[in-house]
Amino acid sequence: MAFSSLPSLSITVWLLLWADSFRHCYSIHQNYSSLFSFGDSLTDTGNLLATGSLSFPSIGRYPYGMTYFGRPTGRCSDGRLIVDFIAQQFGLPMLPPYLAHGGNFRQGLNFAVAGATALDAEFFHEIGIGHILWTNHSLNAQLLWFEELKPLLCNTTKECNDYFGKALFLVGEIGGNDYNYAFFLGKRLEEVQSYVPKVIGAVVAATERLINNGARHLVVPGNLPVGCSPMYLTLFSSPNKNDYNTKNGCLKKLNQFAKYHNSLLQGELKKLQKKYPMTRIIYADYYGAAIPFTYSPNHFGFTHGALATCCGGGGPYNFNPSARCGRNGSRVCTNPSSYANWDGIHLTEAAYHAMATSLLHGSNTIPPLLQTSEN
Ligand SMILES: *[C@@H]1O[C@H](CO)[C@@H](O)[C@H](O)[C@H]1NC(C)=O
Ligand SMILES: *[C@@H]1O[C@H](CO)[C@@H](O)[C@H](O)[C@H]1NC(C)=O
Ligand SMILES: *[C@@H]1O[C@H](CO)[C@@H](O)[C@H](O)[C@H]1NC(C)=O
Ligand SMILES: *[C@@H]1O[C@H](CO)[C@@H](O)[C@H](O)[C@H]1NC(C)=O
Repeated sequence: MAFSSLPSLSITVWLLLWADSFRHCYSIHQNYSSLFSFGDSLTDTGNLLATGSLSFPSIGRYPYGMTYFGRPTGRCSDGRLIVDFIAQQFGLPMLPPYLAHGGNFRQGLNFAVAGATALDAEFFHEIGIGHILWTNHSLNAQLLWFEELKPLLCNTTKECNDYFGKALFLVGEIGGNDYNYAFFLGKRLEEVQSYVPKVIGAVVAATERLINNGARHLVVPGNLPVGCSPMYLTLFSSPNKNDYNTKNGCLKKLNQFAKYHNSLLQGELKKLQKKYPMTRIIYADYYGAAIPFTYSPNHFGFTHGALATCCGGGGPYNFNPSARCGRNGSRVCTNPSSYANWDGIHLTEAAYHAMATSLLHGSNTIPPLLQTSEN
């Protein structure tokens, strides 16, 4: 038995290696001439910082940026974000933030703003929580920036279809803050859940608007497993063990909430794909890419687990709302790559790198981002 299974094993290995090189061969050919991105703090490479609207811009201070850039860039992490790893995969420069105004943006630009919502500020004013928005640069506002800038890149429909047809668009993650603000202010889960379809509607409308501007390749991410975020674990800590997933320690209801958002989003994206068969609309499963950190952190080198922050002000998850990362009373770990979580809300560069790897080379983009559909 052992002997006879050996040759078939080596053939399997050989086939796997061959399939792997085949895939890489494809990924080399699958290039984009530019990358445009929208979203919130998971994608912002400096816009919020450039608005100057923060009274305590901790993201503009050490230790933000300590791992890769060696200085704060306005990214909400110690280093690169998923959008940076995607840019690098396709040999594109890391995206400058739109508000940096200037430089060459023919290879792309980033319109994402930390704190941004999918829905416009008016909605939050209507439901009485508008006062806590960090920024009014909602997804619509970001699209307006894009459309204002567009004539610098192309004018006629044909020019724009040619130019943007070769670009990759990253539309999100966006929508997480629409819920965060409400949860911070103590809104009930059921109430927040009731406007998920509205949020999805905004994300899908933005995607369609980009298609009408000439986009053909679009990646639309879903939400993270927010029930595993040290911020939520701290703010919604519960004496009831049943509120936690016993296998990974995350808050069950919040993760179900994120999954609900994601399933609605996927459903709507499928409809959009049917409506625009010449486009490639890719759902990026951020939830699926990040949840393994919580089940097997060591596999990713997260020796401190996935539920405690590298940078924070103490407490069971090292998240203290009054001593957040970058502020007095918080401390940063010596080796951020041994943590999945950076500051309680955002992930470390190491975690974003692992996510990007699984989005690009694994099964967490549907259909796969690195598979050609040029037929
Ligand atoms: C990739 O880039 C090369 C060189 O810039 C170009 O000739 C080719 O058409 C591009 N491929 C795709 C699929 O866009
Ligand atoms: C958002 O817009 C409102 C109304 O124009 C303004 O009063 C508020 O200061 C803005 N908030 C931010 C954070 O820019
Ligand atoms: C589009 O038209 C404007 C106004 O005529 C012009 O300034 C701009 O250079 C044009 N853009 C391109 C890409 O040709
Ligand atoms: C933080 O601590 C420094 C030095 O102790 C102090 O000067 C500063 O005012 C503090 N900042 C805040 C926001 O409390």
